[in-house]
Amino acid sequence: MIKVAFFDAKDYDITSFNKNITPEFEFKFFETKLTTDTALLANGFDVVCVFVNDNINKDIIDILVDQGIKIVALRCAGYNNVDLKYSSGKLHILRVPAYSPYAVAEHAMALLLTSIRRIHKAYIRTRDFNFSLTELTGFDLHGKTMGVVGTGRIGRVFINICKGFGMNVIAYDKFPAKDSDINYVTLDELFEKSDIISLHCPLTDETYHLVNKDSVEKMKKGIVIINTSRGALVDSQALLQGIKSRKIGAACLDVYEEESNVFFNNFSGHIIEDDVLARLISFPNVIVTSHQAFLTAEALENIAKTTLGNITQFLKEGKCDNEVFYKSEGY
Ligand code: NAI
Repeated sequence: MIKVAFFDAKDYDITSFNKNITPEFEFKFFETKLTTDTALLANGFDVVCVFVNDNINKDIIDILVDQGIKIVALRCAGYNNVDLKYSSGKLHILRVPAYSPYAVAEHAMALLLTSIRRIHKAYIRTRDFNFSLTELTGFDLHGKTMGVVGTGRIGRVFINICKGFGMNVIAYDKFPAKDSDINYVTLDELFEKSDIISLHCPLTDETYHLVNKDSVEKMKKGIVIINTSRGALVDSQALLQGIKSRKIGAACLDVYEEESNVFFNNFSGHIIEDDVLARLISFPNVIVTSHQAFLTAEALENIAKTTLGNITQFLKEGKCDNEVFYKSEGY
């Protein structure tokens, strides 16, 4: 029996993993995140399964290793939350490299359309029988220039969606795709020429605060920034200042650099401590969703299947196609 301890388990995780369980598995779902206080709950399990905001740092790695854990199965694609250097040789880190690029790319476009066509404002107005159109003027996407940073699985789906809208798409990738019709430019050119910028690259030392005070200065007035990748790609203070100075026209955020303290939880009856997030949410031209881009039925099904497949492959073959290694993929 392979005993798996899930941390940060939500209703939708429990449903999708239970639906895909096979006889060799036994699951225990913990609502709590994996922290130094809760890591002891992993005692007696073979595998620990975590999500994006479970921080696998040195202390947690030590506690897990002391309890005989050898496998950490990430039920997500990004692995910036793992200290890969320290875990190397101690733990095997498995991930789900792709579960639905469509889920994330479509959410990015949903955020953009909501923002620029003021759907979030109109929805609230009409529910209150306010049918005024004052201050709801948007703009056409057709003919505008979309700058896409990162042309991997999600970036490419997003590019196709944008082309469907008749947009002119330019892109930057540190490792440009060969034999593609993607119009690659330098990062500076992308900052200068884009009307809208959408981030689809991983968070690495290099991409940390890719959108910062200097890069915002290079952008067009009224730039719209979409971030569905990782919060720390954007310097939140620079974003805040850019919005206050009217340089940034709108921001569509599914991720936020300090999200691990708030996202996935209900704080509706509480005083939010994070002043930057509270200020960002207060702006009429900022839309925040709570790391929701992945959340489709298709993606959840793929996450469960791939995570369980990763674990069985590793236990049967002593290796897994989806294991991540320190520096093997640039992080
Ligand atoms: P991918 O690995 O297929 O593509 C990433 C692309 O970024 C690659 O083409 C790579 O060459 C490029 N890249 C790497 N370093 C770069 C740099 N320094 N500058 C510019 N480009 C660089 O990854 P995929 O599946 O497209 O996912 C992209 C990101 O989306 C993930 O890293 C993850 O952080 C995020 N994500 C967010 C989700 C959400 O629910 N909001 C769900 C899934 C992924």
